[in-house]
Amino acid sequence: MVGTTEYSAAGAVQEPLGTLTNNHLQNGEKLRGGYYTPAAVANWLSHWAIRQPSDTILEPSCGDGVFLRAAANRLSALGCTSSEYGQLITGVELLPSEAERSTQLFTIAHPQAAPPTIFPADFFRWLVFNLDARFTVALGNPPFIRYQNFPEPSRTIAMQMLRQQGLKPNKLTNIWVPFIVAATSRLQPGGRLAMVIPAELLQVSYASQLRLFLVDRFRRIEVVTCNEMFFKNAEQEVVLLLAEGKLARPSSTNQCHINMTEFATLDALLKSDPGSKPEAQKIIQHENEKWLKYFLSAREIDFMRQVRLAPAVVSLNSHAEVDVGIVTGENAFFVLTKDQVRDNGLKGYLKPLIGRSAQLQGAQLTRTDLAQLVRENSRTFLLYIPPTANGGLSPSLDKYISRGERDKINKGYKCSIRNPWYSVPSVWVPNAFLFRQIYDFPRAVLNLTRATSTDTIHRMTCREKPEAVVASIYTHLTAASAEIEGRSYGGGVLELEPTEAEKLLLPRTLGIGLPLGEIDALVRAGRLPDALQQNDRKILMDNIGLTSAECTILREIWAKMRERRRARSRRK
Ligand SMILES: C[S@@+](CC[C@H](N)C(=O)[O-])C[C@H]1O[C@@H](n2cnc3c(N)ncnc32)[C@H](O)[C@@H]1O
Repeated sequence: MVGTTEYSAAGAVQEPLGTLTNNHLQNGEKLRGGYYTPAAVANWLSHWAIRQPSDTILEPSCGDGVFLRAAANRLSALGCTSSEYGQLITGVELLPSEAERSTQLFTIAHPQAAPPTIFPADFFRWLVFNLDARFTVALGNPPFIRYQNFPEPSRTIAMQMLRQQGLKPNKLTNIWVPFIVAATSRLQPGGRLAMVIPAELLQVSYASQLRLFLVDRFRRIEVVTCNEMFFKNAEQEVVLLLAEGKLARPSSTNQCHINMTEFATLDALLKSDPGSKPEAQKIIQHENEKWLKYFLSAREIDFMRQVRLAPAVVSLNSHAEVDVGIVTGENAFFVLTKDQVRDNGLKGYLKPLIGRSAQLQGAQLTRTDLAQLVRENSRTFLLYIPPTANGGLSPSLDKYISRGERDKINKGYKCSIRNPWYSVPSVWVPNAFLFRQIYDFPRAVLNLTRATSTDTIHRMTCREKPEAVVASIYTHLTAASAEIEGRSYGGGVLELEPTEAEKLLLPRTLGIGLPLGEIDALVRAGRLPDALQQNDRKILMDNIGLTSAECTILREIWAKMRERRRARSRRK
């Protein structure tokens, strides 16, 4: 449904926010790959991207045409006559019905105007047949479709185009990536790109090549985020990408400036003037790093770069290896309480196990802690049947396995690919645990028991002195680096994959901070900030040589990034 139109102060035709967002959800959502853009957001982006009445505009996946109408609004405000829209605005849309609807809705909004040129086509095939098509502006909100759902022959053409542009796509490459690359490649020098894209751009590895691609091609990039979701019910968090000053040819020495702007509400974002932002002073480094750190100030970013290079600072990887925990395939079957063990007669086939981070209270897990968890009937037993045990199983275990087969546990993917299905692999005891999902701090816990963990918690193998490695994690240096290395998906939680965890910053020298016992006592007493502050003094100031003000910068970086992700979860 199209809402009644009204005129904004800027003179642009505006459709009420959100009226077009949910109308095609039931059917074809997979193909559509996301939500339609609210008219107000499309108008805001068009206002920034289109600066001349002669600008030529490409919308590569126009849906029902919200950006086409927004572009016409903006061109009109710049003095363009409505008879020119047909030549200036080009839309492409895979679904013929939506392409048709684009024309209809455009005609309703601009009855006297020449409608844009809209191609009902796959954008990547369209590119092949329109090799010379060039534009000064690219606008849109490309679909979000995973590689395996990306229909052929479109996928092969898109991947080939990515390779021609110097990228190396893989099976994680989502369809929105080739959309941005292709649209950029068709921009004239000086051109602008303004798109709604997944927040994944900032942090996931599969988008790292795209980040470099953009840095090599634009003079300036602005990423706008908003604490209020743009799209109701959307799981995918989005950001607005505003890239300007397309270079005549790519340059790996280009000094691309970046700015990240964050708004608490959509209303505040829409009231802001994207054209009036000061020139960003942050220069993006030509490296495979995430862009999350650009939420920090230029001073903070420089400081983190210097600290990383300090001889007294190393990454966790120098002291320890981080691996995922055990993948049981079905925790309800394999991870048990003492009562379940007793009721099913499973004694003799067990290993102690930590399955939830809430079971780890301090900075070390002692035998007393584990015994307490067992008494509380917490799920602390892994059903462990070595593959070699086949044949000699007790009758009660045989019965439990048969019940699992009756419940089709053996048909689950992870169980079905191992032989025998009930033999959980990779059961080994780590020196320490490291939280994979972080709410406040990247907690490390020394393991003083024979317990292992499920894959909700990482396992650490220390190269030396596990106790000292764990203790040296408890500083604001590690805290700040976790926020930069990790990823957060809108749930407020920071997630660290093992390779990301191995990049956490630590002191090179071990055993110079608070004894782990003291840290443990403070953490258990809910005094993590005290533990960090005292350890900062001993490790960061006395050993690494940072000043008290520099420790404060680290603490503020941590607090700022942590609050940012938490605020995004609160808005939900
Ligand atoms: C997330 S919707 C956004 C639509 C519109 N850009 C907007 O902002 O409201 C993505 C659109 O991409 C279209 N689409 C999907 N694959 C496409 C392709 N290969 N070529 C062109 N359009 C495609 C879908 O049909 C859908 O209309």
